[in-house]
Amino acid sequence: MAGIVLDRIEKSFGETRVLKGVSLAFDAGSFISLVGPSGCGKTTLLRIIAGLEQADRGQVSIGGRDVTGIRAADRDVAMVFQNYALYPHMTVEQNMALPLVMRRLTTLERAPFLGRLVAGTGTRRAAIREEVAQAARLLSIGHLMERRPGQLSGGQRQRVALGRAIVRHPKAFLMDEPLSNLDAALRHDMRRELVDLHKRIGVTTVYVTHDQAEAMTMSDRVAVMLGGHVLQFGSPREVYEQPATIDVAKFIGSPRINILAGEADGEGRVSVTGVATGLVAPRLTGKLSIGVRPEHLTLAAQGIAVTVGHVEFLGSEVLVYARETRAGSDLILRLAPEAWEAAPSRQNLTVAPLAGRLLAFDPVGNRVGLIGSETAARIGAGGTRPLRTGAAHV
Ligand SMILES: Nc1ncnc2c1ncn2[C@@H]1O[C@H](COP(=O)(O)OP(=O)(O)O)[C@@H](O)[C@H]1O
Ligand SMILES: [Mg+2]
Repeated sequence: MAGIVLDRIEKSFGETRVLKGVSLAFDAGSFISLVGPSGCGKTTLLRIIAGLEQADRGQVSIGGRDVTGIRAADRDVAMVFQNYALYPHMTVEQNMALPLVMRRLTTLERAPFLGRLVAGTGTRRAAIREEVAQAARLLSIGHLMERRPGQLSGGQRQRVALGRAIVRHPKAFLMDEPLSNLDAALRHDMRRELVDLHKRIGVTTVYVTHDQAEAMTMSDRVAVMLGGHVLQFGSPREVYEQPATIDVAKFIGSPRINILAGEADGEGRVSVTGVATGLVAPRLTGKLSIGVRPEHLTLAAQGIAVTVGHVEFLGSEVLVYARETRAGSDLILRLAPEAWEAAPSRQNLTVAPLAGRLLAFDPVGNRVGLIGSETAARIGAGGTRPLRTGAAHV
């Protein structure tokens, strides 16, 4: 088990700057996701950790050792790819055994082994078989050992690829969209399996995905990337509830966060589409973007007027697609079915954000703290009472 530290990693391909100074530190034994839209540099970063690509600048350390100049084979990490990269002419057992065979047997010893796996040809070979069998048990693929990859389903192939990585006992697993070739239901099951597997073997895992739900449900921490930068590195809850920038807020969460036009007046008092919020953005005036998640909007007597477009009933929740009447921005509400049932109208509604759930972003997209106006008044008056932000989000 080993931690991984990336220090100011830069990489260009020709004129294209792909990584623009990425620094991250992954705790030993943790499950980390690199998440972001296609083309943001996730695969390149993973390949730099693996040693399959050299950074132009910056340093990679694995388990406290600077491996920047070390070749991939000597870094002791295992890659798992989307396309499995199995050898079609070999059985499952041979595929899984391959890394151990290459490491422990001489060329001469390997020759018959690769032809056909025969039991009882030396203690080293027996040991390899036992280790492969152990990994197969861990992945519930013991019954598939004699098959070839062509005779397996996508999920089974991915398990074999994982098994081949596990037998090496690497310092870290590096996985590049390993589930994206699987159908939705299987992908969902495999998420749980990978997390369980990680719990059992505890090897530091860096998992690349463009699917924010995958990253959020599987990881201890998530690095949200965009355009060669890491915008935020935090727990799933942190990146969801306290996004550092508007881009993080928009990328994380489904349905997407609602973004409304806001403004801070001369005293920093914040309004959303012209409606006062009772919140203050200290030391700010002018335009703001206000984010509010679909589940943080409620039907209210006063607030933001919306016109309902279409409605999706999902059983446990109702998604209401609406348009904010004043400025015409699109809005999504995620309501409990009972709340929707009790709505005073199916067409024209007034919605209000739950207390403390508004997120404000300045014109360049950085999140700014909001405080309750009462608190702000006390700060302004130099009050000595303990500050209570109450429902406000700071
Ligand atoms: N070997 C390469 N040569 C040239 N450009 C590359 C190469 N690898 C990646 N790129 C470019 O770098 C950018 C980031 O790619 P990549 O790391 O694969 O992104 P992601 O995995 O996030 O989709 C893309 O614009 C891609 O076209
Ligand atoms: Mg990629």
